[in-house]
Amino acid sequence: MQDILKKFSFSIPTKLEYENNYIKNLGKTVSSYDRILIITDEGLIEAGILETVKNHIADKKYSIYSDIGSNPKDYQVEEGAEIAHDFNPDLLLAVGGGSPIDCAKGIEALISKNEESISELYGKRTISKKKIPFIAVPTTAGSGSEVTFSAVITDTDTRVKKSIRSKNIAPDLSLLDPSLTVSLPEDLTAFSGMDAFTHAIEAFTAKTSTVVTNALAIHSMKLILKNLEKAVNDPEDIEARGGMLLGSTLAGISFNNSDVASVHCMAESLGGKYDAPHGFCNSIILPFVMEHNKDYCAKKYAKVAQLMGLDCSNPSKGAEKAIEKIRKINQRIGIDAEKMQLKKEDIGELAERSVDNLSNESNPKPMDKEDYVRLFYKILEEKEK
Ligand SMILES: [Fe+2]
Repeated sequence: MQDILKKFSFSIPTKLEYENNYIKNLGKTVSSYDRILIITDEGLIEAGILETVKNHIADKKYSIYSDIGSNPKDYQVEEGAEIAHDFNPDLLLAVGGGSPIDCAKGIEALISKNEESISELYGKRTISKKKIPFIAVPTTAGSGSEVTFSAVITDTDTRVKKSIRSKNIAPDLSLLDPSLTVSLPEDLTAFSGMDAFTHAIEAFTAKTSTVVTNALAIHSMKLILKNLEKAVNDPEDIEARGGMLLGSTLAGISFNNSDVASVHCMAESLGGKYDAPHGFCNSIILPFVMEHNKDYCAKKYAKVAQLMGLDCSNPSKGAEKAIEKIRKINQRIGIDAEKMQLKKEDIGELAERSVDNLSNESNPKPMDKEDYVRLFYKILEEKEK
């Protein structure tokens, strides 16, 4: 852990309000706005959460955009921006998991830049000014999107996940309310929770990690390790839900100021190609990337083992134990490689996309195309066992 003299800059432009049942204050929080564009998804409508939101803003004019899948697509962001153009909102209110929140960031970017096509904005940091105030209400504990400056959008022509990064697309305010995560189904609780854990572990071990991002990542991992299985097994355990929401947000702040790394490079390749659930892909990939990295960051992986309550006196054995434990957690929360969408004939292309991912440079141990090919084959073997 030799980050003590490493220089860093750190920022979080998003104000946070954390309170169980905060949603009852929503009317007061948005009282100065008149026209609200709600960005959400069908799952939230079915779960009744949107109804609750609508009840709290019944005196406002609002419009709803909800045609968003589990990985937000370019055309969905563009449709949302068209609605925003017509409706002319004075507030964007994203309610949901990472997809609606990332979609709202994309809408913000298109409106601010006066662009129609999101492809014009990939990879750029040129959104100089926010046009519409933006509040996020996360209903999953995983993506960290409520505190990050980036949006991951699938380019449907190439089936590649692209990012837009700018401080001016981050939410101005995020309302963290554990009660809103209680209706999240078991599988999504498991996937999103492991996404958050992957954020923490990648932020902690990335080349870009700093003292501040390490502190956040370590506390995030503590919270997630204590609460993930509880939240999966007992969805109404509000303390476990609160622990997961906080763990996920801390991991989001951490990776946004450090980075993610090769697990995400591979998961984003799979997500773009097959529209596969992001957190599920991360959970399966994580132990394989850790195996690859372990001789470069054994001490940090041993720290993870310590957080898991395992013996970490020997760093390389500690690292092994942490990897083994992650496989066990995956098993216990029902995450099974058998369900991974991965075809042998696509591995070359997926490996190439992983190398091209901007976060590849942040992985603690270098990863080239052959390394990615090797890991994708290992995952295929695991899937076919
Ligand atoms: Fe992620």
